[in-house]
Amino acid sequence: MSSILLAGGAGYIGSHTAVELLLRDKDVIIVDNFSNSNPNVIERIERLASKRVKFYELDTRTSEFEIVFKENEIDVVVDFAAYKAVGDSVKEPLSYYENNLCSLINTLKLMKKYNVNKFVFSSSATVYGDVKVDMLPAREDYPRCATNPYGNTKLIGEEIISDIGNADDNFNSIVLRYFNPIGAHQSGLLGEQTNGVPANIMPYLTKVAIGELPFLNIFGDDYDTEDGTGIRDYIHVVDLAIGHVKAIERLLKVNNGVEFFNLGTGKGYSVMELVRAFSRASQMEIPYKIVERRDGDVAMSYADPSKAKEVLNWEASLGIDEMCRDSWNWQSKNPNGYDD
Ligand code: UFG
Repeated sequence: MSSILLAGGAGYIGSHTAVELLLRDKDVIIVDNFSNSNPNVIERIERLASKRVKFYELDTRTSEFEIVFKENEIDVVVDFAAYKAVGDSVKEPLSYYENNLCSLINTLKLMKKYNVNKFVFSSSATVYGDVKVDMLPAREDYPRCATNPYGNTKLIGEEIISDIGNADDNFNSIVLRYFNPIGAHQSGLLGEQTNGVPANIMPYLTKVAIGELPFLNIFGDDYDTEDGTGIRDYIHVVDLAIGHVKAIERLLKVNNGVEFFNLGTGKGYSVMELVRAFSRASQMEIPYKIVERRDGDVAMSYADPSKAKEVLNWEASLGIDEMCRDSWNWQSKNPNGYDD
């Protein structure tokens, strides 16, 4: 049986991926220090999969991480362990470089020491920077350019992985560039836990819907888009999780060095369209105000997902209505996230 190590596996994307792997009879090991997650997640994963998960509460930057490699035969490592808030990364760049890169390097060093040579890396559409509108959708071979420290950690991470691939013929990696993950597990047992005021649109919207925040701030309605609000490629977190399953299956089958894939739907929705879809799903009017543009935002971002379809046999199957339905289901059933 293949054993898959999920570093940061108790987080938003990691937890959904754990369930999809367990349901497909993969052996899953989760390592997490709960810096942005919650111990209750593990029990919920087990409940959904009707299976036990091997779990270590550890920081992947530390020497203690080695025990996981000593005690297990690992086939593939998936690295979700990273900070991800763009705004915080601008305020605290050093902690972003330290956390995201030290953890990545420690993981790769342990993999080398224990002869584990298959790696899935969580990257982001942020590595495309501000793609000119007539060049959209973004393709994997486009030049990369990060516009904030968080994006830099992903870009440098990609470079580190490519360099290892160039130096070591046995090393195989799939780098997944996520577009905008939203939604939650259909059961309402797993979703995105946010501490404090959310930076991203969907958790903000759901907190407005439960009355915890008074209204949504829409950051600008003067972009060069149909309704003037920003366009993003929102992707259901369960589709994203299945993308990881496909990447792992490919790594277990072929030795193809380092490969890059967009995970998006290929379809962009404006902020206004998302608000309308959410209103339909929640049967609620969402109060909003149009405010200034947010620094660093681009007008439009959406993927060309055709490479993932061709090579990984993966394509998103859930649309914007399902994404809104499941985000709302999660928030309304868990008003305090995993602390309920
Ligand atoms: N937005 C609002 N109001 C809010 C929050 C967001 O109007 O309160 C708008 C933004 O201006 C943007 C859209 O909603 O047009 C999406 O914003 P998010 O903050 O949800 O997501 P981003 O596209 O800014 O960022 C996300 C991830 C990053 C990743 C990036 C890649 O959070 O980690 O996608 O494009 F790097």
